[in-house]
Amino acid sequence: MLFRQLFDPETSTYTYLIADLETKEAILVDPVLEQVDRDLSLIQELGLTLRYCLETHIHADHITGTGKLRDLTGCQGIVPEHAIAACANRHIKDGEVITMGSIEVKALFTPGHTNCHMTYAVNGTHLLTGDALFIRGCGRTDFQSGDPGQLYDSITGCLFTYPDETLIYPGHDYRGQTVSTVGEEKKFNPRLAGRDRTSFIELMNSLNLPDPQKIMEAVPANQKCGKVPALS
Ligand SMILES: [Fe+2]
Repeated sequence: MLFRQLFDPETSTYTYLIADLETKEAILVDPVLEQVDRDLSLIQELGLTLRYCLETHIHADHITGTGKLRDLTGCQGIVPEHAIAACANRHIKDGEVITMGSIEVKALFTPGHTNCHMTYAVNGTHLLTGDALFIRGCGRTDFQSGDPGQLYDSITGCLFTYPDETLIYPGHDYRGQTVSTVGEEKKFNPRLAGRDRTSFIELMNSLNLPDPQKIMEAVPANQKCGKVPALS
């Protein structure tokens, strides 16, 4: 399997490129509009065919590159079930699997950051956790139908049921970290370790974070797969 973690410094977003080396088919998870040229050059250099762009959720902090990549490559745009994005080619359900050669990408319904957020499990060994679980943190729950109780249940009842050595690849990192494991996060994530559901909810409800700078433009743009007339 080819597995690459790509970074957008402006929004601290990770995009993941996953490909089967035999069939040369590729998936991009959470592409960023401003990084489409970078991602496409890499895909072309490696001789890959982009089949799918997959979103973990409708983002509030950056505009997706899916619409532009679809125009340029003919790939399919896939969003979680119930996500408002009429532009998508497909909505993916909990437990549904996308197969490319020897690679299996399974959608895991992990709401709480938003109400239709998916984590993607790649071959059962890599969890692309989007904004559900970060390295030593987690996504906020104070807008876009977020719900801290639901996020606690998603993390403890789904993500933390994977073996301790399972790799965690988050949707963002703001401190230069790239990868963690389920075991490490169970032990050291300050939002979860030693906390019960009630204490997690209290903590999340007391964060008082400012809105992301791009929320007013990003959410409506992402509901159109990032196709904003002025930007696309
Ligand atoms: Fe998000």
